[in-house]
Amino acid sequence: MLYPELFKSLEQVRWNMETDIPWDQFDASLLTDEQARTIKMNAITEWSALPATEMFLRDNRGDSDFCAFMSVWFFEEQKHSLVLMEYLRRFRPDMVPTEEELDNVRFEFDPAPPLETLMLHFCGEIRLNHWYRCASDWHTEPVIKQIYKIISQDEARHGGAYLRYMKKALNESGDVARAAFAKIGVLMGSARRTEKPLHPTNLHVNQALFPNDTVQSRLPDPDWLEVWLDQQIKFDGDWEKKVIERILHNMSLLFEKSFATVQELNRYRKEVGVRLTAAASAQPA
Ligand SMILES: [Fe+2]
Ligand SMILES: [Fe+2]
Repeated sequence: MLYPELFKSLEQVRWNMETDIPWDQFDASLLTDEQARTIKMNAITEWSALPATEMFLRDNRGDSDFCAFMSVWFFEEQKHSLVLMEYLRRFRPDMVPTEEELDNVRFEFDPAPPLETLMLHFCGEIRLNHWYRCASDWHTEPVIKQIYKIISQDEARHGGAYLRYMKKALNESGDVARAAFAKIGVLMGSARRTEKPLHPTNLHVNQALFPNDTVQSRLPDPDWLEVWLDQQIKFDGDWEKKVIERILHNMSLLFEKSFATVQELNRYRKEVGVRLTAAASAQPA
């Protein structure tokens, strides 16, 4: 079981909303309306950890260890939403999301294969870590710069925790897990900025609600994510490269095989697929 150890390690680095955020350093002259609005959108996006947790608990009913860890993940993600809302409450109360706006991102996700979802969220945490670091650079107001820096570190740790569960799944399920992780790794590593940003909150998750079945589509401004990335924080090719390098580096650790490019990971995915097919046909009917 990984939960006790993960609980302990995340507890040790836990930050305090009252004492670790330098609230008294706020400088109103360094916060624009445009910047405050992006904070609101990030706060609502973070709130979508609620339906994601409901999905995780439902789709991992057979894995109590992982579901127990969800209590920590859920707590920390809701805290991200809360710290951004607290910033707005103190300094731009007109921008605090309404309960209705928060409720709107709580909707049912269709059941999905747990291993693929796990990898998807692992990549999502890596990506969000980089988005928030980039956002911290873009912001000019010192308190919000610090908030983005702090929450970006949490996202990196979430990625690390998911990686531990991926390793565990790999030991238990072998090639089935390898195939699922490599498949999503290739997909998430192939993101180019000309396409839609690849993050769990930007993927379609409920066929019956299509096309309003991504978290982003249910925000007060469904187009904000692309504007935020392309025109505001300017998440460019260099940043994108860092995300892909990070994913490949972790895939190399996980599979104990070095991948320098997404193409190499894709070749490995095909090799695993061939092995799985051979193993299936070798089984007596
Ligand atoms: Fe978060
Ligand atoms: Fe996270």
